[in-house]
Amino acid sequence: MTTGYTAEQLRTAAAEAVRAPSLHNTQPWRFRLVDGGIELAVDPLRRLPATDPSGWGARIACGAALFNLRLALAVAGTPATVRLRPYPGDPDVVARLVPDVPRRPTPAEQSLHGAISRRFSNRAPFWPDPVPADARWRLGEAARAEQCWLELVIGTTAVNAFAEIARSAHRVLERDPAYVTERTRWIRSEPSPDGVPTGAGGPQSEPQDLLPQRGFGGRDRAPGRDFEPEPLVAVLGSTGNTATDQIVAGQALQRVLLTATDAGLAVSMLSQPIEVPGAREALRLSLGRFGTPQMVMRIGFGQPGRTTPRRPVDEVLDLPVVH
Ligand SMILES: Cc1cc2nc3c(=O)[nH]c(=O)nc-3n(C[C@H](O)[C@H](O)[C@H](O)COP(=O)(O)O)c2cc1C
Repeated sequence: MTTGYTAEQLRTAAAEAVRAPSLHNTQPWRFRLVDGGIELAVDPLRRLPATDPSGWGARIACGAALFNLRLALAVAGTPATVRLRPYPGDPDVVARLVPDVPRRPTPAEQSLHGAISRRFSNRAPFWPDPVPADARWRLGEAARAEQCWLELVIGTTAVNAFAEIARSAHRVLERDPAYVTERTRWIRSEPSPDGVPTGAGGPQSEPQDLLPQRGFGGRDRAPGRDFEPEPLVAVLGSTGNTATDQIVAGQALQRVLLTATDAGLAVSMLSQPIEVPGAREALRLSLGRFGTPQMVMRIGFGQPGRTTPRRPVDEVLDLPVVH
């Protein structure tokens, strides 16, 4: 193929890409058309210096947006060939997508694409019903299809050991005033195109909770409405931990999240044990896996909830670069 993508194709696909999750809903991405190729870059103005000093979270979010972008282009009949981090001199550019041979989308692409607009982080308690074996298998396959692994933490002992690692990481983070200030700055009690709305924050945490909840100013909890006693915890990992591995993991994360949504499952993310280096290593050792944990998810059957706002797509598009 010699012809490139058009500005209209970019705009349509970017509008779906921005539905990806991001730390504190910062939406740290920019999109532009360069010589007929779509380029996705980290937005340096939306970094979180205290929460995400290494840029791991921004790369995971951009990887997730990249997966949506790939799906949107494929479903429109113009799938992309993707190069990750194409410019060594410009590491903020996450990917460059050029048109591949046009083809019809596969049924799998169509169902994952259909889940983009329905997916959201569900931080409320889930029903106690277990996640069926075939759905667990599909989630693992979704991670493997994107060169990552998904380890399910099974059994009370393993879940309790994980919870201990997660709670201690949470305590370490909460002791850092810069981290707390940053988290508080992204809580939104009024309608806003970014940040975490208080209504999406889940119920206030209580001492009996097994897993630590990042505080986003959630609602008071109705009496007796506790979290599920044995949550399904899933750890997503990649083979390495380079910047490229993190972008790969972001794509795998989104594929797992969309697969869960398509299977009628709810998910919330908890990344405290990823953000604290000692906790991340303890988690890796407890799983007995090579590679690096990149995200933790709580998966189950949730109550209905709402998607969170995004900035208008035109705010994340850069004007075409003219040579
Ligand atoms: C790298 C990363 C880390 C995240 N960590 C957490 C977390 O620790 N706790 C949490 O409740 N949500 C976490 N999230 C979810 C975001 O807060 C959420 O995606 C964002 O607010 C947008 O909401 P949505 O997922 O409903 O679209 C994380 C998301 C990403 C991409």
